[in-house]
Amino acid sequence: MQRVLNIETIKYINKNVKVCGWVNSRRDHGGIVFLDLRDRSGILQIVVTPTAELAKDIKNEYVLEIEGKIQKRPIKMFNPELETGEIELKAENINILAKAETLPFDLKDLNVSLPVLLDYRPITLRNKKIQAIFKIEEEAINSFRKTMKDLGFAEFQAPTIVPVATEGGAEVFHIDYFNGDAYLAQSPQLYKQILVGVFERIFTITRAYRAEPSVTTRHLTEYISLDAEMGFINSWQDLMDFCETVIRNIFLDLGKSCQKELKLFSATLPKLGEKIPRLKMKEAQEIIFKRTQRDNRESPDLEPEDEKEIYEFAKEKYGSELIFISHYPTKKRPFYTFPDPKDPEYTLSFDLLCRGLEIVTGGQRINDYEKLVKNIKKRKMKIKDFKFYLQAFKYGMPPEGGFCLGAERIVKQILDLENVREASLFPRDMARIDQRLSVSKKRNPRRKTSSLSGNKLKK
Ligand code: 4AD
Repeated sequence: MQRVLNIETIKYINKNVKVCGWVNSRRDHGGIVFLDLRDRSGILQIVVTPTAELAKDIKNEYVLEIEGKIQKRPIKMFNPELETGEIELKAENINILAKAETLPFDLKDLNVSLPVLLDYRPITLRNKKIQAIFKIEEEAINSFRKTMKDLGFAEFQAPTIVPVATEGGAEVFHIDYFNGDAYLAQSPQLYKQILVGVFERIFTITRAYRAEPSVTTRHLTEYISLDAEMGFINSWQDLMDFCETVIRNIFLDLGKSCQKELKLFSATLPKLGEKIPRLKMKEAQEIIFKRTQRDNRESPDLEPEDEKEIYEFAKEKYGSELIFISHYPTKKRPFYTFPDPKDPEYTLSFDLLCRGLEIVTGGQRINDYEKLVKNIKKRKMKIKDFKFYLQAFKYGMPPEGGFCLGAERIVKQILDLENVREASLFPRDMARIDQRLSVSKKRNPRRKTSSLSGNKLKK
């Protein structure tokens, strides 16, 4: 007999089927045993009666193949929470495909601390609510890809072993490369720029690595970077328009395909208002000062508490839970960032904050070869390290720019997760690679900070 998925069994009332899956839970009622069988499509109730003999040895997470008849449940036994809640399968034969040991916690009503959740990741990912996080992440990534393709961007695969750090400030993982030096890419930045010189519009969904030396609720050492870059921009404002389209579509698509998942978290999609408001960093700092009397007006970046305050402001004034903040100081942004011709102390770059956390960074880039060379020298970086990249500019690069969206961060903000690690399938940080590490000074003898000066501050 061919296997059918649990969700399909609703079409087989009074017919015999074969289903396969894991035991999500077991309930014994006298001589009757109820099993909730979980497969990739959902849950199906299995009833083992008149004698429970067939289910005698079966425990949670056993992997079963069950044959039997699909029958309508008595009305008072309907379960509106399940898509198969009006039916059940009366087991006639149960074949154990794999046994499972007793779980260290209740997987169905998972209530464990974050470290335990991550220590047992191969199992805790089987929980329905945890799975929902990654369905949302997958749909957000699909949506990004679709929007980019619809807008004429070509997809590329970025290298992750690179000869030089790009983002500075944020630290870089050094690797011993056949007795030479190489790094794990902090961003596909230089490659997406090079490829604007080839394809005009380019995007990638890739891994980026940051040797974050502290444990915060917003930083991972490996994250998913959704990067876009485009040439022939009329103004840096075009980039915010594109970014806004991407974000709007992500929320629209999640609204269409992930209602069930959002409901598990009682989450609502962030409101954007008619247009995402845009403020310069200095303007934002003035507003924050007026609202709170907290004076961070001389700070070269928005502090985390400022990001939260400006979110409250945007929500109250514009009905938007997102806000673009632009014009960060030139000396605090990477070497490729375009200074504002009207005030070169500040850049034509922006962050997009969602519910008080930065989820995107973007901006116009310096596309003039001579200016780029001058800037690299000014920052005391070595031209020879950038010779390869600079070819793209030496031989003609249109006005260009782009942005990057952190996948885990947007999911964190949509679902109001406490920690960005919850939005990473297998999160890495200084204290964990799958399992907890014993962090000592010895662990990082080769970690180097970037030689690039004057870059974005880590918050
Ligand atoms: O702000 P970042 O460092 O900017 C860049 O990488 C530029 N190359 C982007 C550009 O196109 N100009 O990183 C971009 C985004 C952040 O807004 C954040 O969403 C995410 O990547 N991100 C991280 N997410 C999790 N953990 C970390 N350590 C992250 N660092 C950055």
